[in-house]
Amino acid sequence: MAGSCPPRCRNFSTGFGLRRENISKMGRFRRLIPVLIGLGLVAGWWAARRRAGRNRRQPSGHRWFAAVYDLATGRFENRMLGRLRTEVAGLAEGRVLEVGVGTGANFPHYPANIRLVAIDPDPFMLRRAKRRARALGREVELVLASAEALPFRDHTFDTVVATLVFCSVADLARSLAEVRRVLRPGGTFGFIEHVRAHAGLLAQVQDAVTPVWRRVAAGCHLNRQTVEAIEAAGFDVVRLEEHALPFMPLVAGIARHPST
Ligand SMILES: C[S@@+](CC[C@H](N)C(=O)[O-])C[C@H]1O[C@@H](n2cnc3c(N)ncnc32)[C@H](O)[C@@H]1O
Repeated sequence: MAGSCPPRCRNFSTGFGLRRENISKMGRFRRLIPVLIGLGLVAGWWAARRRAGRNRRQPSGHRWFAAVYDLATGRFENRMLGRLRTEVAGLAEGRVLEVGVGTGANFPHYPANIRLVAIDPDPFMLRRAKRRARALGREVELVLASAEALPFRDHTFDTVVATLVFCSVADLARSLAEVRRVLRPGGTFGFIEHVRAHAGLLAQVQDAVTPVWRRVAAGCHLNRQTVEAIEAAGFDVVRLEEHALPFMPLVAGIARHPST
């Protein structure tokens, strides 16, 4: 109605189905936009602060994976893994480094007269490893560290042991180069790993499932070609045992650091 309009206003259709009254309501809304953006920024800043605070209080790691690990592997441990652990960890001598110690499942399988240092980047795993070492009365130096950056001098160790670890490391080649660096020439590297099938349907399934599996299983890749990677890192694989499990081949092996 013309009478209800201010002097320079006319009721007209904008051609976009909007009436003038609606446009002036939008004008009011437009004035609110900076306020809404400001509120959004404050809310974002507050959420980021809360997240940062939570991260400071809770170190990164996989609390639930650590909590269920021993339970989940128990049957397999009794059937096969325990024997393989004895074959691999049982050969350790002198100064020994265990990479990716987890809950310390290898501790009962080491000889008594070694000096054991063990690393893992997951504080929840280390906490459990500490408890297991105490229960077994075994002295172990536990260090929060990753395989990709081992905090030790070159040629520090006579033996390195890693079991079911290289499926999960972020950088396989770099981790193996670090193992080679800290191992003395002629030293022993013992490993147990599940690996990609050589070929066929199983290998294809492993490739297809890995992107999802990684997310639910703490970064575990089902399709790593770890034995080939160990050889590519310059180790001589002197013993290799292969087991065809239903969903993935498992290997247990001994490699030597080349003496020269
Ligand atoms: C499947 S668990 C195996 C634990 C133990 N070695 C065993 O045989 O039961 C994998 C372990 O590797 C550790 N891990 C993951 N990424 C790693 C990395 N970049 N360097 C060293 N350890 C790593 C995990 O925290 C976890 O403890």
